[in-house]
Amino acid sequence: MKKSISSILIALLLISISCTSQKNSSGKNLSVDFKIQSSYLLIPVEEKAPEIKISVSTSNPTDQSSFDVHLAVDKIDYWVPLDVKKLRDQKLTLSFLGVSESFLGIKEIKQSDKFDFEYNEKYRPQFHFTPEHGWMNDPNGMVYLDGEYHLFYQYNPYGSMWANMSWGHAVSTDLTSWTYFPTALTPDSLGAIFSGSAVIDVNNTAGFGKNAMVAIYTSAGKVQAQSIAYSTDKGRTFTKYAGNPVLPNPGITDFRDPKVSWNEAANQWIMALATKQTVTFFGSPNLKDWTKLSEFGEGIGSHAAVWECPDLFPLIYNGKTKWVLLVSINPGGPNGGSATQYFIGDFDGKTFKPDTLPYPLWLDYGRDNYAGVTFSNIPKTDGRQIFMGWMSNWDYANQVPTKDFRSAMTVARELTITNNGKHLILNSYPVNEFNNLKDIVSEKPDLQVDKEATITELLKNNDGSYEIEMTIKPGNAVEFGFSLNNSKNETLKFNFDNATGFLSIDRKNSGLINFNDRFALGMNAPLIKKDAYRIRLLVDKASAEIFINEGEVTMSTLFFPSECMNQLKFYSQTGKFGVEAIKINNIK
Ligand code: FRU
Repeated sequence: MKKSISSILIALLLISISCTSQKNSSGKNLSVDFKIQSSYLLIPVEEKAPEIKISVSTSNPTDQSSFDVHLAVDKIDYWVPLDVKKLRDQKLTLSFLGVSESFLGIKEIKQSDKFDFEYNEKYRPQFHFTPEHGWMNDPNGMVYLDGEYHLFYQYNPYGSMWANMSWGHAVSTDLTSWTYFPTALTPDSLGAIFSGSAVIDVNNTAGFGKNAMVAIYTSAGKVQAQSIAYSTDKGRTFTKYAGNPVLPNPGITDFRDPKVSWNEAANQWIMALATKQTVTFFGSPNLKDWTKLSEFGEGIGSHAAVWECPDLFPLIYNGKTKWVLLVSINPGGPNGGSATQYFIGDFDGKTFKPDTLPYPLWLDYGRDNYAGVTFSNIPKTDGRQIFMGWMSNWDYANQVPTKDFRSAMTVARELTITNNGKHLILNSYPVNEFNNLKDIVSEKPDLQVDKEATITELLKNNDGSYEIEMTIKPGNAVEFGFSLNNSKNETLKFNFDNATGFLSIDRKNSGLINFNDRFALGMNAPLIKKDAYRIRLLVDKASAEIFINEGEVTMSTLFFPSECMNQLKFYSQTGKFGVEAIKINNIK
């Protein structure tokens, strides 16, 4: 059932609007008093309007906060909720900087007991995690504890664009469906809450309690520094440590995104931190006192821009432990904008030594997988290194055509090291839990493609969330491929070119593209010629993730078709190729 804002019973209980004496170049400073009689104050947003600061104050002088919002001037795109449940019958004052009384965002603020919006808007994915409403970027603090996978994430509760960085929170028991939890960490006097990680302090090294969940994040205020917060109720509530920041800024601008893990050999916590265009490793016995161990990155990999969101973890390859270092970079990805590179090597508890490989190597060659890291505290009996990334790109993330929410995560993927026939690579492949989501499975006959072949209907009642599995045997075809299509002639094309050695995705004609002129840029992944390409393509309303040969080549892409793509077309420029074991799986 669709919900709509207009059906909400609204009680507007505005006491007074008063102009303060201050004025600035872009408007006045106004204060509005409310007697709170409902659960929410609903604030109108117009995304194109300038961002202004709203300060919130109550009769309790310690209860002051502020946030930034694109307050509606003359059009309301959507509403955002300020939760005032705890203030019933009390007076609350909102102070606005640089506004005018005529702003819709001031005239139309409402009290309401419900914050209702169209959750199932057109491009809301079904089996990918999205924030309930508001903006999301990087996954943060991913940690497993007592049967629950915790996903925290960069979150703006006051709009669908980047601002007010907080840690949103969701919990899953199966890595495929998620329950929303209240926002876990909100900005404070040290700044916004940027990306970071969470660990379970099994041995109570920090003194917050045995098995405390400790979040290590960047306080992004005037400078960037690392802070911690702990939870002794399995992530339900967090207390910020009074001694923050635990790792102060040493005088560099980009000093962020701590990823912490326990290193048994070194018998201490290791933090990988993005420091300008390197990763600096720090060690600590207790999560509070950190010592610099080493710095990695100069002269190796891509240095097109600042490094972000590192992650260091071991994987077993051929019976031996290898260490993988993930480093996100923006811009400078192989296909423009943001992307995640990786290094494979050894870590002796202090220093990371990369193997000689043809760097830069990229975890996902699509345009839409950024800032991904792995879960900590996965039980040894499971042993997987489980990854999730943010399925967008800083090139256009703030403009993608969704409304009450923006951005999704990739599906959870297992990372492994394999050899692609030329060298070691980092594989990523959907976790097995996804197989449980397959609903109706439709098998299609094998095809021999000579120029063209079409499967005219993938699924009956296709709602845009499905999986395609098939094996392509290139035979003597050199340039060939397939596309998803709809009746509006929109198409998302996957082109295999064994002459140039690339798999390319073309989304120029895939639907809405002109919200940003960099969205239609092409994307290529290196492709090694093989006799067979086993393909798994996960499609979820507005995204496609392709995995070739169990994750040897991975590309993630967004696309915004005007109707669901329910046709699959194959083509060959030269020669014939076979398509076998074609299955279309509806995803529940
Ligand atoms: C990566 C990033 C991080 C930072 C966060 C802020 O996308 O820029 O480096 O902590 O986003 O939201």
